[in-house]
Amino acid sequence: MKKILVIHGPNLNLLGSREPGVYGKTTLIQINGMLKTLAAKLKVKLTIKQSNIEGEIVNFIQGVKNKFDGIIINPAAYTHTSVAIRDAIAASGIPVVEVHLSNIYSREEFRHKSLISPVAKGTIMGFGAKSYSLGLAAVVDLIEVK
Ligand code: DQA
Repeated sequence: MKKILVIHGPNLNLLGSREPGVYGKTTLIQINGMLKTLAAKLKVKLTIKQSNIEGEIVNFIQGVKNKFDGIIINPAAYTHTSVAIRDAIAASGIPVVEVHLSNIYSREEFRHKSLISPVAKGTIMGFGAKSYSLGLAAVVDLIEVK
């Protein structure tokens, strides 16, 4: 069975109560539940991590070697700042799909630049919690055609 690592970045643990007008009312626990249901249908095994700490996210990505077939990551605010997460993704050697709940291009200018997109296979954004299920379907597709 193929194994997918899901990484949620900083402040995503607050989903549900965090700026619901921007991010919706769905909690991270609900998103994870939805992903697990979809993973069962797609016959893949999910491991889900969340961290508010940049180095911890780098460690999660470094840990995929020989253990995971693909990654879905919402790097949250680190999308716009983290060369370290970008470099870890570039070194991972497995397909990475970047996801965002909001459309970063329809928001403040400082969110318009993603350091992650150039090293991701693709990016899905703007569909709220659904961005994650689209991301999971995309990464499974990438692994299966590989
Ligand atoms: C986000 C967008 C980022 O700009 C922001 O810092 C987040 C969440 C999203 O999912 O829309 O924390 O990644």
